[in-house]
Amino acid sequence: MSELPTGETPRPPRRKRYSGKNPRNFEDKYKEHAPEKYPETVAKVLASGKTPAGSHVPIMVEESLKALKLSPGMTGIDATLGHGGHALRILEQIQPGGKLLGLDVDPIEQPRTEARIRAAGFDETTFEAVRSNYAGLTKVLAARQLEGVDFIYADLGCSSMQFDDPTRGFSFKHQGPLDMRMNPQRGLSASEWIERTKPEKFTIALEEHADEPRAGRLSEALAGRVFKSTVEFANAIRSSMPGLDPDTIDLTVRRVFQAVRI
Ligand SMILES: C[S@@+](CC[C@H](N)C(=O)[O-])C[C@H]1O[C@@H](n2cnc3c(N)ncnc32)[C@H](O)[C@@H]1O
Repeated sequence: MSELPTGETPRPPRRKRYSGKNPRNFEDKYKEHAPEKYPETVAKVLASGKTPAGSHVPIMVEESLKALKLSPGMTGIDATLGHGGHALRILEQIQPGGKLLGLDVDPIEQPRTEARIRAAGFDETTFEAVRSNYAGLTKVLAARQLEGVDFIYADLGCSSMQFDDPTRGFSFKHQGPLDMRMNPQRGLSASEWIERTKPEKFTIALEEHADEPRAGRLSEALAGRVFKSTVEFANAIRSSMPGLDPDTIDLTVRRVFQAVRI
């Protein structure tokens, strides 16, 4: 690196240029990668009732806080930290003296959320981000010599950031690898799971996780096959139901993706 004259601060790297008015590829979508730097855009999207890409709007915040009956000094668990929307509101209410452990399995989003929570003023004495499945909660507590906590909060499912990032492969709306793992470092990708799954088991997944009425027919067409991308899988679902109207086909694609995600 070249030396800078004393007193000069290095310039931040220039943003990558893309052709056209708006970035097309997810990696070029600078606002999605750092929504906190664009508060006006975020406010505009929120006011329209939508979720700004790259972030997550927490649901039922007031109802959740009321049910938790929080007070200063409490120690508790957010078992599904996500974007940290609930965690931040919980943290405000358990200070002074309180501590929150925020669990999540997602190694990509969790460090970003931890950084946001630190930037909001919560240090290690008030908040700890823990990479763990909530199934391992007893181990997390034992490792910290905690015999119990005052509350455990969980907001189950996927986060909007996971859906928005095409490289995670959660959504049929974006071209990406058919992955769908909340922790891409562990377990089978969706693509591997579909390839290894027999039609009978695939049918059960479609029925139990998505109430899919055409489970048998779809399983015969899809189970055991190799689909590398989200779009390839979505197209295979569509073409296995010739003659159905577009709305029914669209709903079926959504249900099959939901079942495989679960
Ligand atoms: C709906 S989001 C939570 C959003 C969060 N309440 C907020 O305000 O941003 C669900 C989160 O739970 C995480 N998750 C899902 N299953 C999990 C599990 N078994 N253990 C830990 N985290 C899990 C996902 O990675 C995701 O980040």
